[in-house]
Amino acid sequence: MSKEFDVVVIGAGPGGYVAAIRAAQLGLNAACIEYNSYADPKGEVRLGGTCLNVGCIPSKALLQSSELFEQANHSFVMHGISVDSPRMDVGVMMKRKNNIVDQLTSGIRGLFKKNKVTLLSGLGSFAGREDEKWKIAVTRNGETEHVMAKHVIVATGSRARHLPDIPVDNEVICDNEGALAFDGAPKRLGVIGAGVIGLELGSVWKRLGAEVTILEAAPDFLSAADAAITKEAWKTFTAKQKLGIKLGVKIGKVERTADGVRVEYELKDEQKVLECDRLIVSVGRIPNTDGLNADAVGLKVSDRGFIEVDEQCRTNLANVWAVGDVVPGPMLAHKGMEEGVMVAECIAGQKGHVNHDTVPWVIYTHPEIAWVGKTEAQLKAAGIEFKAGQIPFAANGRALGQGDTTGFVRMYACAETDRILGVHVIGNNASELIAEAVVAMEFGACSEDIARICHAHPTLSEVMHEAALACDKRPLHF
Ligand code: FAD
Ligand code: NAI
Repeated sequence: MSKEFDVVVIGAGPGGYVAAIRAAQLGLNAACIEYNSYADPKGEVRLGGTCLNVGCIPSKALLQSSELFEQANHSFVMHGISVDSPRMDVGVMMKRKNNIVDQLTSGIRGLFKKNKVTLLSGLGSFAGREDEKWKIAVTRNGETEHVMAKHVIVATGSRARHLPDIPVDNEVICDNEGALAFDGAPKRLGVIGAGVIGLELGSVWKRLGAEVTILEAAPDFLSAADAAITKEAWKTFTAKQKLGIKLGVKIGKVERTADGVRVEYELKDEQKVLECDRLIVSVGRIPNTDGLNADAVGLKVSDRGFIEVDEQCRTNLANVWAVGDVVPGPMLAHKGMEEGVMVAECIAGQKGHVNHDTVPWVIYTHPEIAWVGKTEAQLKAAGIEFKAGQIPFAANGRALGQGDTTGFVRMYACAETDRILGVHVIGNNASELIAEAVVAMEFGACSEDIARICHAHPTLSEVMHEAALACDKRPLHF
């Protein structure tokens, strides 16, 4: 007799493990299938998906270490602190990163135990439908077990997109997995793609001494962000931080050489060559739908490989749901987690929902970039009349005290109703500051609401307050 569950989740990334825990909290008998050991030394299956193992968490650990190194080299001196030539031990930095990853992935095992979620180790796939239940195959080391599920949540996530004729070996030519495990700072680092991974990981290795060249196909830079932010970011990354970003590039032949990689590319009709010790390929991610046996059961997958879902993440099949990177929308851990909670609540008969209009974006460069809601270009394209308030951190006492005054907060509010339509931050701690804007927008706040809220002094959040005042042309400190 096969084991039977109310809910079987395929994939234990942020979308999947959160869905399984929430389902169990709601009294459902839940299981979660995961096959990936992410190079675990004991070969054990690891929970947490891309995010915990080879994404958000390890990259943020390296960004923090490298930022401290950067400060020791360049910023301590303004506080009167002198340190004789700081040195970075990349091995120690990597060990710290690995420890954080280990702690969090094993923490999810603990959460599964606490919430009585059954972990099924193996590759999950659809094996048919019997008596209105889904038969799911779990295959590991050539052996297959079948389980039955009233509901299935597909949360199989995504993997790095590779380019034809650029063989990723994750030693010299790397995607995110190899790029998070370098054994030392390369002297010359090449990056293909100036997106989020290219900028974050390019920043890590630049701070640790690499000469970084980023080759971007698009003619513009960070096109999803607000134009004012992009302009400031471009200035800071290229002129101040000397990241060598080249736009409008066409990548040609890429080959391994005796001492690294040779990348041929075309820029403004000129043929160029980049010689580097290591190359990161970060040109987007593709959803993981192969291996699910989707065709056999008729699960609808788009031409681009995403599972098609409605606004509550229902697929075309009865009681089959899909969440996270494997469905359309931004590929962000918190978006996947919210969808996981929504689906578990819908299965339990509640009214789960996700407001996709208030999903924040954060890029953890220095300065950080964060936004929620619409950009100026989107508002103009939609013909919405708006007012804008922009305040720099340069006028803020806390920012001055911290010695970091780059950037600004820019807020857009509806010209007629004053409702906040978008908030864009570039600056130190933008990742934390954006939360206030998300809460405000979720509650349908006006810029006047933020203007009337008491913000602690001296804090960076006062810049958010001033930006709201500036929407009404009455900032107090600028
Ligand atoms: P995943 O995390 O990809 O998890 C899916 C899991 O399903 C995987 O463990 C996979 O092994 C498993 N799986 C796949 N197929 C099967 C199968 N058939 N059977 C069993 N298991 C299967 N997002 C942020 O919000 N903030 C960040 O700072 C951030 N930084 C990032 C940095 C990097 C370098 C990268 C690569 C990504 C980053 N992301 C970040 C994106 C984030 O990691 C993803 O959006 C998130 O992990 C998606 O969650 P998910 O659960 O949909 O999929
Ligand atoms: P991305 O979509 O952010 O950027 C990819 C870049 O590569 C784009 O600028 C694109 O124009 C460029 N590109 C595509 N093909 C190219 C080619 N042939 N030659 C040169 N350039 C090319 O993708 P990235 O950086 O790989 O990250 C994947 C996803 O992971 C992100 O979209 C995001 O969803 C998630 N992520 C989120 C982070 C965060 O929230 N802080 C951090 C890192 C990743």
